[in-house]
Amino acid sequence: MVVTGGAHGIGAALGREAAARGASSVVIMDLLASEADEVARSIRDRGTEARGVGCDVTDRDAVMAVAAEVAGFSGVPGVVCANAGVIGPPGRLLDMDTSQIRWVLEVNLLGLIWTLQAFGRLMEADTQQGWLMATSSEHAFGVAHLGAAPYTASKHAVLGLCDILRGELPDNVGVSVLCPGLTVSTLWQSEGRRPGRFGGPSAPDASSAAVIEHGMSAETVAERAFDGLAAGRFLIPTHYNALDYGEARWRDVQAAFEELAKIDTSCWHVGDIARAVRGRSSNA
Ligand SMILES: NC(=O)c1ccc[n+]([C@@H]2O[C@H](COP(=O)([O-])OP(=O)(O)OC[C@H]3O[C@@H](n4cnc5c(N)ncnc54)[C@H](O)[C@@H]3O)[C@@H](O)[C@H]2O)c1
Repeated sequence: MVVTGGAHGIGAALGREAAARGASSVVIMDLLASEADEVARSIRDRGTEARGVGCDVTDRDAVMAVAAEVAGFSGVPGVVCANAGVIGPPGRLLDMDTSQIRWVLEVNLLGLIWTLQAFGRLMEADTQQGWLMATSSEHAFGVAHLGAAPYTASKHAVLGLCDILRGELPDNVGVSVLCPGLTVSTLWQSEGRRPGRFGGPSAPDASSAAVIEHGMSAETVAERAFDGLAAGRFLIPTHYNALDYGEARWRDVQAAFEELAKIDTSCWHVGDIARAVRGRSSNA
């Protein structure tokens, strides 16, 4: 089992939960190498082989190198959690500086893609059953978290790209999207760890710390995540209250269609057209 962003919060809990459920080996990847080592040590103390690896997921070559090294060392992993994520200090989108927007999108979206590519390629070339689990958020169901536009956009994007990925991969590689709600973690400290090339660290937002302390425990989220994997679910929600956001979004979608688009448009069904056109051109 491999987890990115495994030095703290949900990632560390996923690593520990995997070990508790019988993983033979756990790899904790994180930007923070020594803290990843500490989590790995705590897993080894309970009898499971574990290693901490310093790796910035925004560095595609580094992620590819770690994946190759892991495969050589302990074989192709059965479960890979693309979990590393950051959130910037609250701010209006129109006022936000470009380095903050780039940083959040590079870690939460591109870093996650590099992780899925690196390990997904190994898994699809293997015969054993493997599982990729990407951490999105309840934001993907429509939570309007004002002050966190790039973060929210990244979490919607994770859901969208996993929807495609699951159709593109062979049957031996499953894809799941973990969608937690408020969870106790160090996410509020992200800003204090922002690397120099994305503008460097600044003081984390204390009010976010006060909010996140009231969240679900990361251990409970990790238990629900692995229950979801065991059940073969694509979507893995953890906070039942987030269903309200999904229902509100769906009511909005329905109302818009009823009001604006209630005509027969079935002749423009993109899937049917694509199949018909591609079928014709391949027959020609
Ligand atoms: N805590 C919540 O309320 C909550 C809710 C929904 C989703 N999430 C998501 O859960 C995931 C884990 O976050 P968390 O809440 O446990 O926060 P966390 O800050 O405790 O853990 C995130 C980890 O990611 C690491 N990280 C940051 N940038 C990295 C990089 N470039 N490369 C490698 N590692 C990097 C951090 O060092 C940290 O250890 C994130 O994707 C987050 O968006 C969190």
